[in-house]
Amino acid sequence: MPNRYTDVYEQWKREPDVFWAKAAEDIDWFKPPHSVFDPHQGVYGRWFDGGVTNTCHNCIDRHVIAGRGREAAVIFDSAMTGASQIYTFDDLLLEVTAVAAVLKNLGVEKGDRVVIYMPMIPEAVFSMLACARLGAIHSVVFGGFAAQELASRLDSARAKVVIAASCGLEPGRIVAYKPLLDAAIDLADAKPAYCLVVQREQLRADLSEERHELDFAELVTVEKSKKTEIACVAVAAVDPLYILYTSGTTGKPKGVVRDSGGHMVALQWSIRNIYGLRAGDVSWTASDIGWVVGHSYIVYGPLLAGVTTILFEGKPVGTPDAGTFWRVVEHYRVNVLFTAPTAFRAIRRDDPDGTFAFSRDLSSLRALFLAGERADPETLRWAEKLLHVPVIDHWWQTETGWAIVANPIGLEPLPVKPGSPTVPMPGFSVEVLDDAGKAVEPGILGNLVIRLPLPPGCLTTFWEADDRFRETCLQEFPGYYKTADAGFVDDDGYVFIMARTDDIINCAGHRLSTGALEEVCATHPDVAECAVVGVSDAIKGQVPYGFLVLKNGANRAASIIQQEVVDLVRQRVGPVASFRTALILPKLPKTRSGKILRGTIQKIADGETWTMPATIDDPSALDMVAVVLQKSLSFHPSNKIAYKQ
Ligand code: COA
Ligand code: AMP
Repeated sequence: MPNRYTDVYEQWKREPDVFWAKAAEDIDWFKPPHSVFDPHQGVYGRWFDGGVTNTCHNCIDRHVIAGRGREAAVIFDSAMTGASQIYTFDDLLLEVTAVAAVLKNLGVEKGDRVVIYMPMIPEAVFSMLACARLGAIHSVVFGGFAAQELASRLDSARAKVVIAASCGLEPGRIVAYKPLLDAAIDLADAKPAYCLVVQREQLRADLSEERHELDFAELVTVEKSKKTEIACVAVAAVDPLYILYTSGTTGKPKGVVRDSGGHMVALQWSIRNIYGLRAGDVSWTASDIGWVVGHSYIVYGPLLAGVTTILFEGKPVGTPDAGTFWRVVEHYRVNVLFTAPTAFRAIRRDDPDGTFAFSRDLSSLRALFLAGERADPETLRWAEKLLHVPVIDHWWQTETGWAIVANPIGLEPLPVKPGSPTVPMPGFSVEVLDDAGKAVEPGILGNLVIRLPLPPGCLTTFWEADDRFRETCLQEFPGYYKTADAGFVDDDGYVFIMARTDDIINCAGHRLSTGALEEVCATHPDVAECAVVGVSDAIKGQVPYGFLVLKNGANRAASIIQQEVVDLVRQRVGPVASFRTALILPKLPKTRSGKILRGTIQKIADGETWTMPATIDDPSALDMVAVVLQKSLSFHPSNKIAYKQ
């Protein structure tokens, strides 16, 4: 049946350049692009070549110039400290300009990298925008990562300056960031010239002059009082705005590079047409600025469109209870809420009847968007019943920066099919191929790929690793970008995302590489070999379980070694890995050619039916997996998530 979505999607298909040129009119250009898409540049082509612009100008200055300076731009709400503060576009301009002045005084120039390692506080957003103002490239590192992960990002980005906070606040504990930062800088070969530290009153850090550590607030206050003016630096549309590192199939993270022009065009289009938001609306993305969702829909998307964005420090539960989300929605009259399904599973576990929501006025809410992992139909229906608004699942990745598949309520809401994030967005031609690269029939499971070129807003490459980008994403299916997700498209064109085809798992909406976790487990002196698999979990979707085989002669108590491996992962990767279970096996189940049967281990752990692979080397090894799991206290069938309808 023809509808607005079909019209728009067909318009894009017919004349992609006309479509994106029109979308680009919503952005201020210092110099307009001379081409919409140039297939001869970059790895697969580049968007808006010749265009000159600045993301900070588009997020702040142009709204101030348009007379909207006194409207709310960023609302900070901390369920951890009780803080609540509204920053208008005028305030934001003052704050961001001051941070930009501080960075400029430290020698930061266009193209320099700045690493931002911060919790969810306003200074983190100011810092991102200040980098954009100077044309510097920021790289935000999620606070739940350990020193080693931060060090590998420092080495890759070779940051001139690091901006950090003295601490983060997690329920029941203060996370001291400064010792992690110190350890990371000690580990890294590429040392930053300066560290700017936001001192939080909950835990101040000792700053060392010798290490060029400076107090963020002191310097910013000076620049604010001087009212230093820092003009937005003109950057090319194809210049990078940021690098965001994400899990790859090895311990070495991939630096997703986002350009300046295409990113703005895509996000601005998506805010209006997917999320149905307009200037003056209030949007709340309950995620973290360390993830792509935070980059796109806490910071850049809403601000580009003049939408008020909420920056929330806290959790959906336990800060102080499962009613926090409803307090925020009511208090700030949130129109669109966006979070990960895991947050709703946590709320539902603590408040199954939704009693916290009943006493709140949630009438401002128009839609709930979910992403980051598969939205199980049960949670989706529960949220619909509770909120009486459309609950929209949408599928995207750090690499794409915005939704590949969604239900574009800004154009026209399409019927929801639970289990499907709905239909491809303009720019994304989604196809399903078998392993040989042949298109499969509707309804048949295969590799989800996107026909090149990727639309504006998607990654242009991996930071200083074009070859890795080609090898990982473009080589296997020539002419396509490989999403590494498996799924199918039904007869109505609805896309279903079923599983990853690589070693990535999604844990509480956070992306983890089991291969990287295996690399860490294997460094324990008593571990001969290991396998890490994602096991389904009622709240987090999946959690990693480690299966270890010990070296001959490792004769210390198993429980001690298990705990040491768990501690090792926490210390090397960080608490975000949620790695709590390491189990010891006499041998790993393998095929006769030596391939570890991770898929079968996962099926056993998930309580699914499984068949003995014909190529198995020793069938008893799989039986042992079941025995060891049964004995494990952390393994309980009630932990299973109901994905099936
Ligand atoms: N800094 C330091 N530590 C952090 C951190 C941060 N920014 N974020 C998480 N951690 C720690 C947690 O404190 C926890 O530590 P613990 O092992 O000592 O308990 C560990 O990392 C695991 O965190 P998490 O996986 O988030 O589990 P949780 O039990 O603390 O919370 C949820 C569970 C579901 C409530 C929480 O994950 C959540 O709100 N998720 C929303 C998902 C989301 O924002 N996804 C982003 C993509 S949309
Ligand atoms: P990240 O890069 O952290 O955003 O993780 C991207 C991956 O998360 C995707 O490749 C999918 O495997 C998964 N994912 C994201 N959104 C969805 C969704 N709506 N449904 C199913 N899986 C999703």
